[in-house]
Amino acid sequence: MANGNSKSFRDVIKDMVVAKTSLVYLLTDEDRRVEREVKALAAAFRPPLRVYVWSCTTGITCDDEIVVAEPSIMKALDWFMGIQETAFLILNDVHVFVQENPPVVRKLKDVARRTENGYKTIFMISPFLEIPAEMETDVVLVDVPLPGIDEIERTLQQVISKEKHRDSLMQAMTDDVKDLFIKAGAGLTSQQMFQAFRKCLSGKATITSRELDALVEEKRQIVKKSGLLELVPPTVAFDDLGGFGGLKRWLELRKDIFSKRAREYGLSLPKGVLLMGISGCGKSLCIKAIADFWKLPLLRLDMGRLYDGTKGTPEQCFEKVIKTAEASAPCVLWIDEIEAGIANAGQKSMGGSASRVLANFLTWMQEKTSPVFVGATANQIELLPPEILRKGRFDELFYVELPMDQEREEIIRIHLAHRNVEASQFDFAPLVKITQGFNGAEIEQGVTGAVFRAFTQNRKVTQSDLYIALESIVPLSTTMQEQIKRLERWAHNRAVKAGTG
Ligand SMILES: Nc1ncnc2c1ncn2[C@@H]1O[C@H](COP(=O)(O)OP(=O)(O)O)[C@@H](O)[C@H]1O
Ligand SMILES: [Mg+2]
Repeated sequence: MANGNSKSFRDVIKDMVVAKTSLVYLLTDEDRRVEREVKALAAAFRPPLRVYVWSCTTGITCDDEIVVAEPSIMKALDWFMGIQETAFLILNDVHVFVQENPPVVRKLKDVARRTENGYKTIFMISPFLEIPAEMETDVVLVDVPLPGIDEIERTLQQVISKEKHRDSLMQAMTDDVKDLFIKAGAGLTSQQMFQAFRKCLSGKATITSRELDALVEEKRQIVKKSGLLELVPPTVAFDDLGGFGGLKRWLELRKDIFSKRAREYGLSLPKGVLLMGISGCGKSLCIKAIADFWKLPLLRLDMGRLYDGTKGTPEQCFEKVIKTAEASAPCVLWIDEIEAGIANAGQKSMGGSASRVLANFLTWMQEKTSPVFVGATANQIELLPPEILRKGRFDELFYVELPMDQEREEIIRIHLAHRNVEASQFDFAPLVKITQGFNGAEIEQGVTGAVFRAFTQNRKVTQSDLYIALESIVPLSTTMQEQIKRLERWAHNRAVKAGTG
């Protein structure tokens, strides 16, 4: 399953019309898709209903014909109230016209009252949630999700049907291939996925791994361009992570947790983990390894963008992030150094925004039912607000320590293997000894240094290359004794050790 939403958007609005809701506020960036969906719903009524669309430039149109060439929203509402037929009215960019505009608000409330006993419905489409307080009780809000599986499949069909080689493309669409397309489409707007599918299939007679790679790359680019999230390529394998025995055992117990069988069994989905500890110990690496462990896509939140204002207010940005993550589910949402962003509600420069984002994040973590696993990391735990650590938010808080003897050996071996150096020739005991107090990043730095030294002298890596390179490194921890002790004291009763301990 590529999507956690059970009910399609069309079913949601259908229920509202049937329940005789007069004013529906559709929060979305996809006005064209939403208009199509409303029209499809109207066409499914017996007899079919007409859909009138108002915009401030053309007035009211129906099937692209101008019906009322009067751009005033007041006149449009009067007209709609006056017609006898049961119909839908779509109002575009409505947030602009209801702000500090009491007559329009009053008029909408009047229309709501007059139409409350029928299927006549006004759909207000807006990319921003700006419902005036005095209207809140009259309006039903729908936060339009990104397209679900059905819509993605429909879009794919549509793209293929326009291709010259549509028959052979249809044949190439085995269940597995289709599943990859659905996964690639998940988390994108309908327009974005249409373009991505078309770009990938245009002129093609069949689908090979080249087309599929291109599709994934196209999705990566689209996600990146939208600015808030990055789809991180799966370059880190679970085996690239040394140590973390405690966390690995925690994961092993949940190996099949995202499977259908687990769902049918009634197991609840994990919400996420928070990894805390000094830098360079592999926290970020660990989140990548978790995504690989479950073979889930990894979406990294760009905290800088969330707050820099270029993509809207932090709250709006956070809503978008959630929408994309939920539409891409099952997935891992990676929030790196959470204390520097979301969790730091005290940042005065951001006004109240940061604390509102934190509040929204906590509520979402508490209530979310979609299979979005949050992998968060924090270096400076003293900056974390206590509410983030409370039960019900993360499944587990892990404390990441400097690696122990056995773990350091593992890490050395991993980095030797990455550089194709045969490890059986080395005596690890002295290497483990001189790396006491090293973090993973420093061990890696030592191994890289040794390999480089051997390379420049055009020979194989020797024990002494390793010893010398590692010995020359002064680990960060020597100057951080106090901070590490503080962290340990803090974590003692609050968190579980991520390592073997
Ligand atoms: N436990 C580990 N196993 C393997 N490599 C590690 C480990 N810890 C750190 N490293 C290496 O150090 C690099 C930096 O670690 P990183 O994950 O960024 O640490 P953190 O997020 O805790 O600051 C990693 O990309 C990896 O190459
Ligand atoms: Mg990190």
